[in-house]
Amino acid sequence: MKVAGATALVTGASGGLGQAIARRLAAAGASLILSGRRASVLDALAGELGATVAAADLADADSVRALAAAHADVDILVANAGLPASGVLDSFTEEQIDRALLVNLRAPIMLAHAIAPAMVARGAGHIVIMSSLSGKAPAAGSSIYSATKFGLRGFAGALRAELHGTGVGVSAIFPGFIRDAGMFEDANVTLPRGTGTKSPEHVARAVVRAIERNRGEIGVAPIPLKLGATISGIAPELAAAVTRKAGGDEIAAQFQAGQLDKR
Ligand SMILES: NC(=O)c1ccc[n+]([C@@H]2O[C@H](COP(=O)([O-])OP(=O)(O)OC[C@H]3O[C@@H](n4cnc5c(N)ncnc54)[C@H](OP(=O)(O)O)[C@@H]3O)[C@@H](O)[C@H]2O)c1
Repeated sequence: MKVAGATALVTGASGGLGQAIARRLAAAGASLILSGRRASVLDALAGELGATVAAADLADADSVRALAAAHADVDILVANAGLPASGVLDSFTEEQIDRALLVNLRAPIMLAHAIAPAMVARGAGHIVIMSSLSGKAPAAGSSIYSATKFGLRGFAGALRAELHGTGVGVSAIFPGFIRDAGMFEDANVTLPRGTGTKSPEHVARAVVRAIERNRGEIGVAPIPLKLGATISGIAPELAAAVTRKAGGDEIAAQFQAGQLDKR
């Protein structure tokens, strides 16, 4: 479907990737509804883009329901909001695990559940689900995050198959390490030399491409990282050994320390 003239609900629009996605969708001619919790950030972006703000806490089921009900007629849903949920399993409280599952996994499912029927009735629409390379390749310190992002990959692929032929497309996006803004940039992690990154603008362009070309899955990472994720799917033990050798445990510890404040 065409982005121009469509209405799009973007969750996580106050975050690093969400802001870039919103700007790119607006530049392509969409009318936007921006969601997140930080109303001041959303208001500033909405002023810039001529968008509407719909603040919601996606860890709260009633808020998710209200957000979906108020915007059940959107043409495009970009379920982008997410928590980094990094760290070894026993560093999490039960409440932190619940919040990660609610925001990262339950909220996108419930939003799609509420919004897809009207798209199907109109015979047009697109749902974009923000997964991660951590939704293809597990690593130490990402058990909770990977559980949500693998879950989103399965959800998006299965929903895409269910909606095939209805005119409604579903895409999953798999960013690697994204520089300049967002949860990786905020964490101040030093990656092994030579590990490549992509920009929020690359992710935003992938979102538009996913919608306009109805692509099932798009990775947003340098080729070696994409290849690593593919190998992880075919030979998980080999990929895990390579990651360990490349200092995976040390990097995991950096992520845990740098993202504790986002639990
Ligand atoms: N950055 C990367 O390198 C990277 C790589 C792979 C995948 N991703 C995925 O990309 C997406 C966006 O990440 P980002 O890098 O832009 O992170 P970010 O800058 O930390 O932004 C996270 C967004 O999620 C929203 N959010 C968090 N908790 C929420 C809650 N309880 N209710 C409603 N909204 C909530 C935040 O809104 P408020 O703060 O206003 O509540 C914010 O807009 C996430 O799904 C992430 O997993 C990012």
